[in-house]
Amino acid sequence: MEPQRIRELLAGAAQRARPLARDGRVASYIPALAGVPAEKFGLAVHFADGSEYAVGDAEEPFSIQSVSKVFSLAAALEWLGEGLWQRVGREPSGTSFNSLILLEQEAGIPRNPLINPGAIVVIDALLARYPLYAQQLRNLMRQLSDNPAVGYDPAVWHSEEAYGDLNRAITWLLKAKGNLLCPPDQVLGVYFRACSLALSCRDLARAGRFLIGETAASPLALTPQRRRRILSVLRLCGLYDAAGDFAYRVGLPGKSGVGGGIMCVVPRRLTLAVWSPGLNEYGNSEVGTLALEALVRRSGLAIL
Ligand code: DON
Repeated sequence: MEPQRIRELLAGAAQRARPLARDGRVASYIPALAGVPAEKFGLAVHFADGSEYAVGDAEEPFSIQSVSKVFSLAAALEWLGEGLWQRVGREPSGTSFNSLILLEQEAGIPRNPLINPGAIVVIDALLARYPLYAQQLRNLMRQLSDNPAVGYDPAVWHSEEAYGDLNRAITWLLKAKGNLLCPPDQVLGVYFRACSLALSCRDLARAGRFLIGETAASPLALTPQRRRRILSVLRLCGLYDAAGDFAYRVGLPGKSGVGGGIMCVVPRRLTLAVWSPGLNEYGNSEVGTLALEALVRRSGLAIL
């Protein structure tokens, strides 16, 4: 795609998104997120040839929340191997990201690694092998994004600790069902920190490039098969109980977070990161989804 055309597409998306973003409902169950201005909007693209384009508030760090689950999943598969699938499934859940119901019904095996129970198991598995996983994850994100300033946001992290009772319930249920190796409080501490990672859209689009196969010097140099598998999990589970709607409208594998970020991948070609803090009823960015939908429609990038 011509650079001029890309710039036009991004500018068009930002222009339409901003007025809609203003009235968005920002996540309030994590108080530190409630103060983020709803009108923020950023969009960044990273192409396989290394070129990057960005518009709006794309340089401003925001809380990536559950988008971090993709990086821990990839690290767990790379560093621990496919044995992970003994402890977590890879089916869409059709339930909200923090639901306890299936976990109780399905003997403590979370449906997939992208809902909270699954991500907590992934972090437990990593922590059991790598006691310093919190530092490793931060370093990994710095390397992947080429930005040494990437880190945890202490205000968000502490806010999650203070209001994280549902995640505490999930973690203790995992323990009761025999699917937790480390002490629950340790696992939760790392889980909360992972959710508090602060990256800009530009950082996030760049951090996701290992999923398009720019692997030469990457700390996550995945085989094409592993890449395809992770993208398949994203496509089916990345947007929780809105995965079907997102596939219908956007048609790309992606992962959302309640900070209002969504990272998407066009296999082998590019990554996209969008940020708009207002959420829909499923906890996914409302205007971020609209912007991706419009961008894909105008550019013909959809793969589904
Ligand atoms: O654990 C939580 O509830 C949040 N820290 C993360 C949830 C999240 O991002 C769901 N995404 N749409």
